[in-house]
Amino acid sequence: MAANKSITPSGRERSFSADDLIVSKTDTKGRLTYVNEVFLDVSGYEEADLIGQPHSIIRHPEMPRCIFKLLWEYIQSGREIFAYVNNMASNGDNYWVFAHVTPNFDDDGKIAGYHSNRRVPEKSAFTTITPLYRKLLEEESRHGDRKVGLDASYALLMKAVADSGYGTYDRLIFAISTRRQS
Ligand SMILES: Cc1cc2nc3c(=O)[nH]c(=O)nc-3n(C[C@H](O)[C@H](O)[C@H](O)COP(=O)(O)O)c2cc1C
Repeated sequence: MAANKSITPSGRERSFSADDLIVSKTDTKGRLTYVNEVFLDVSGYEEADLIGQPHSIIRHPEMPRCIFKLLWEYIQSGREIFAYVNNMASNGDNYWVFAHVTPNFDDDGKIAGYHSNRRVPEKSAFTTITPLYRKLLEEESRHGDRKVGLDASYALLMKAVADSGYGTYDRLIFAISTRRQS
């Protein structure tokens, strides 16, 4: 269920303190099992609105779907991923996060759920992220068929990674996330 379909983006951006961490945990299907106070403050939801809901409840329509495809590929194969995500609050405001998403394992080494810690992104990262996400979104909306659009934008993301000279998505994200503004 995409629970946020009825919310219209307000065009207003909100942020949160550089000292804060937005935390959530999900089951293996991506349904929320835990959110911290900062998550509630920034998203504008009550805890009861969120627990048991799919994490896509805070999905912003301007986020390229191929980023979530990549995210799920990583975490379902047991890897961690860092990603820039534009989220939508309950009133339609948007807020950017730099997310670190990891699987949790049970005693048998099986994936038991997922965990995300998010902090305020470095402003300098947007030099790369804004034009990249714009291109990915354009590619997704260019195709009538959602799956074809997703595959095309995913291929474009991989090409952007290759063209960046960093070789892998991880190295590209690391490079743009540690650069400081001069
Ligand atoms: C631990 C975890 C954290 C996530 N955090 C976010 C998030 O902050 N924002 C978001 O839009 N999707 C997040 N997702 C991805 C969603 O599960 C979903 O794939 C995404 O919102 C796209 O929704 P859709 O597949 O219904 O289009 C997260 C998933 C997991 C497992």
